[in-house]
Amino acid sequence: MLPENPTLEQYLAHAAELAERGAAAFAQANDPDALEAARIQFLGDKRGELLALQKALGALPADSRRDAGRAFNEAKTRLNAALDDRRTTLARSTSTGPALDLTLPARERWRGGRHPVTLVIDEIVGIFRELGFTIALGPESESEWYNFGALNFPADHPAMDLHDTLYLGEGALLRTHTSPVQVRTLQRHAPPIRILAPGTVFRRDPFDASHAPAFAQIEGLAVDEGISFVDLKATLTHFAQRFFGATRTRFRPSYFPFTEPSAEMDVACRLCGGKGCAACKGTGWMEILGSGMVHPAVLEAAGIDSERYTGWAFGMGPARIAMQRYDLPDIRLLYDSDIRFLEQVAE
Ligand code: PHE
Repeated sequence: MLPENPTLEQYLAHAAELAERGAAAFAQANDPDALEAARIQFLGDKRGELLALQKALGALPADSRRDAGRAFNEAKTRLNAALDDRRTTLARSTSTGPALDLTLPARERWRGGRHPVTLVIDEIVGIFRELGFTIALGPESESEWYNFGALNFPADHPAMDLHDTLYLGEGALLRTHTSPVQVRTLQRHAPPIRILAPGTVFRRDPFDASHAPAFAQIEGLAVDEGISFVDLKATLTHFAQRFFGATRTRFRPSYFPFTEPSAEMDVACRLCGGKGCAACKGTGWMEILGSGMVHPAVLEAAGIDSERYTGWAFGMGPARIAMQRYDLPDIRLLYDSDIRFLEQVAE
């Protein structure tokens, strides 16, 4: 016990002894009740021994209080730490079962996948690669000449209107199709040429169930001596059979300024097998691409002798093809990046 008017030495000795005794008492408490009893004895806020030590500070001469105060604080810190320590230990040993829940399933790692439009492009490119086609790329910001002029568009063609095409100023525009890559390739390489040109194109289209203002296209071009419409038909029919499985195809006459003659190719609707359904608007057919024999004016614009060489070309939209392949009611699903949708089709 501390005498009524302790000296500094007595105070320091008592503080050290109290801290030692209290810490030992906490460490020896074998259950929460014993620990609580020890806590009241040493740290209780009515008759606790630490409280008595605090009160005794006031009885010390003023010049001893700094050292005594420090000893008091040390005792207090030590007791509280010992109490916390023991509480943790007892809680751990008295809780039922292991602290780790070993039945919790492991967290699955998130793996990225290829977008459905990318899957379609890769597959198309793969089929044509076997036929000797390589990849060519061109710029998305294009000149009027490559996008229209060299492709035999007359100067007043409606595709060149402000409300169809996104102009960047100074003769530049966002390409409205991948066909300018035909001209760029023909300028740079001598025939024989067999290329596919995948890329993004831009039009001032509304964003609705079947249109997007920016979308992927794949251009195909074959130029050589003696190329005829037979090559076009045979190659595209082979492609449709490889890509869609055994299926009927048909070619419908069409018009593009840069091909002559021109044809659109349909495949039998994959959903109804040709009987006619909502997806094919009752026709039994799905349009998959535009094509034709390269117009001599295009060959000449690119510096190719159109008397010696002929060629055929096509352009198709992989998003439209992805819609058929994955039975999608709305093209916007392909642009929303909604993980709940993509997880179902991405590979
Ligand atoms: N460029 C045409 C379009 O965007 C498609 C096409 C390409 C047609 C090549 C014929 C030949 O609609």
